[in-house]
Amino acid sequence: VKPAFTPQPTADGSFTFFSPEFNEAFHSHYGAKQEAIYKFVKPCLLKEKASRQDRIVLLDICYGLGYNTAAALTAIWQANPECRVQLIALDTDVTVAQAAIAYYNRQEWPLSVLAALEQLARTQTATTATLDATLRIDDARATIQDLQQQKFQADAIFLDPFSPPQCPQLWTVEFLAKVAACLKADGRLATYSCAAPVRTALQLAGLSVGSTAAMGRKTPGTVASFAAEHIPPLSRREQEHLHTRAAIPYRDRALNNTAAAIIQQRHTEQQNSDREPTSQWKRRWMSQ
Ligand SMILES: C[S@@+](CC[C@H](N)C(=O)[O-])C[C@H]1O[C@@H](n2cnc3c(N)ncnc32)[C@H](O)[C@@H]1O
Repeated sequence: VKPAFTPQPTADGSFTFFSPEFNEAFHSHYGAKQEAIYKFVKPCLLKEKASRQDRIVLLDICYGLGYNTAAALTAIWQANPECRVQLIALDTDVTVAQAAIAYYNRQEWPLSVLAALEQLARTQTATTATLDATLRIDDARATIQDLQQQKFQADAIFLDPFSPPQCPQLWTVEFLAKVAACLKADGRLATYSCAAPVRTALQLAGLSVGSTAAMGRKTPGTVASFAAEHIPPLSRREQEHLHTRAAIPYRDRALNNTAAAIIQQRHTEQQNSDREPTSQWKRRWMSQ
């Protein structure tokens, strides 16, 4: 029997859960809702897209409690109540979404959004005049191959797995290449992570990467797109970070390795690398 999720309040009053399996909270303690808005929805320019487009396609990788989807639907329908949204959400564990229903703040989300989240958690689909949503319960490494085969193309992709050391299988070169294949030419991918191996893997997939706003005193997130001209360039410090040993990405050639094997392989590659040690880069920039 899996342990029940224990709700934890975050600084903005929204609740998150702690995952005993991954030994990590589902959100930053600065605010689950704030994180969804500032790290995912705003960098993907969803309000701007909704005011120009009558249809938006979303891919929510690691749906969890559904905050990123909730913030996205809220922003889109505020900008254009008639905008039709196609949403594919991925997670291995539907019980997270189901347990979350009891903790949504009913004053903070529009009724249409709450109804969609509840429906998705209960039946894994939600269909209205403006929504066609599916929550696919499987390893995202399997579902992404299916989506790529179907030539699924998203305007916005939210990439929200647990951190690379806890869940490296969803940050690898091979997985992110397939994710990128599901992004429209002018689409945007957003993630809370600014980790060097993540940014390297996104670049190897052909995307330009930039930093998004830092929340609290935390590090920034990352926004990526094939349309380089709209992505804020990385600073010199950030670019140099991507040439150090820390930037060696995670690999998972057949998309079926265990987390431990993926971490071990990267560790070996780092030890054999003649790249600049990351500690040296840190010292160099500390003294500036
Ligand atoms: C950081 S949480 C996501 C938080 C979520 N975006 C939200 O707003 O609540 C990470 C999620 O990844 C899911 N997960 C872990 N391994 C996965 C895998 N291999 N494929 C798909 N989902 C996975 C977990 O069940 C968890 O819900």
